[in-house]
Amino acid sequence: MDKLIINGGKKLNGDVTVSGSKNASLPIFCATILAPGMNQISNVPFLRDINTTIKVLNSLGAQVEGNGNVVRIDTSSINSHEATYDLVKTMRASVLVLGPLLARFGQARVSLPGGCAIGARPINLHLKGLQALGAEIVLEHGYVAARCKRLKGARINFDVSTVGGTEHLMMAAATAKGETLLENAAREPEIVDLAQYLNRMGARIEGAGTDTVRIQGVTELSAANYEVMPDRIEAGTFMIAAAITGGDIRIHRMKLEHLDALAFKLQDAGIEITSRDGIVRIKAPKKVHSVNIKTRPYPGFPTDMQAQFMALMCLADGASVISENIFENRFMHVSELQRFGADITIEGNTSTVKGVKKLSGAPVMATDLRASASLILAGLAAEGTSEVTRIYHLDRGYESIEKKLAGLGADVVRVKE
Ligand code: EPZ
Repeated sequence: MDKLIINGGKKLNGDVTVSGSKNASLPIFCATILAPGMNQISNVPFLRDINTTIKVLNSLGAQVEGNGNVVRIDTSSINSHEATYDLVKTMRASVLVLGPLLARFGQARVSLPGGCAIGARPINLHLKGLQALGAEIVLEHGYVAARCKRLKGARINFDVSTVGGTEHLMMAAATAKGETLLENAAREPEIVDLAQYLNRMGARIEGAGTDTVRIQGVTELSAANYEVMPDRIEAGTFMIAAAITGGDIRIHRMKLEHLDALAFKLQDAGIEITSRDGIVRIKAPKKVHSVNIKTRPYPGFPTDMQAQFMALMCLADGASVISENIFENRFMHVSELQRFGADITIEGNTSTVKGVKKLSGAPVMATDLRASASLILAGLAAEGTSEVTRIYHLDRGYESIEKKLAGLGADVVRVKE
């Protein structure tokens, strides 16, 4: 197992380029199943979760080949309709093959994903939506078995804003008979990216990115080429890396408009953010001010940035109140941040972070993807050496992060344990 060794205290400076979005690539890969043919997806990040999705597609019979950040997926040869527990348990998003398999072949059998470190994460709304489109669904032996003739358009109102649920039903409804209306839909930019890819395949989807998505079912789709959007959470993580180290960096290929809620909070904390010719400059102040955050569905403050923002608040000049409203167990980084000397208390879904003068390097353990990022950020700012273990979590979602940080002047290396 690999670990990262960080010698903290270096101000980050220079330029960094954001990779393609993990959370946009995953549903787009699943959507390729909808039509037979060769798709070329570019700007795909090189990550463990992408490899897992490729394994799922291979297991269904698709031919997948990668060349750098371009992945070619030929779905003509799909001959299995089952995604097994072994694959789905390692990555929840692979459950998104269910709807596309059902829409194209009229049948699918996909393992239930189970809970994960950040919460229970049920898929009840995905299944309820597929049933509303006419699928017959049976839960048996830990699997969802679904059948249908052609799915039929329906009006679906989500009880809670769900990113995966919205994506799943958009895919399933693309070739359903008639119109589907998704109400109280999630509005994340990754949903817009998926809708653009589906429309490139010939779907007729309007309103993605708003809370009402209208899908006119078409009789068939065809394979398409697509370039994935930049990863907004990776970009946000670099913004905080600059802020927490007292640095001054330029981030290339990021879309600042996808990170408004984070940018406003960083500006409240005293960080200077300027954008010119598509390059975003982040300049840290002498002292970061404390600000409160509440995670919310997009366009609110992203839960995927909560852990990293908390690392920043550990060194702010006052107390900050951080409420996590999306996942019930997304504070596992707190006890690890405390090992750096952070002053944090938790009550229910709220943490209070009292800024301290300095953090000191420590051995810490990553518990999930974004928690890992927060520990690296704390390690970059801490005095002395930190060791972050279990970084396989990090490799799920950040492409070459230690190389990119080293390029900005951080002293960070990956070593084999
Ligand atoms: C997506 O997960 C992201 N994953 C997550 O990224 C992200 O944290 C999350 O959206 C919220 O922004 C991918 O895009 C692959 P949800 P998803 O359905 O789709 C509840 C990362 O670090 N819910 O929007 O699984 C659910 O329990 C991660 O990259 C139901 O109750 O999230 C949660 O409380 C991890 N029933 C809330 O909705 C359902 O059927 C939001 O979850 C579905 C969801």
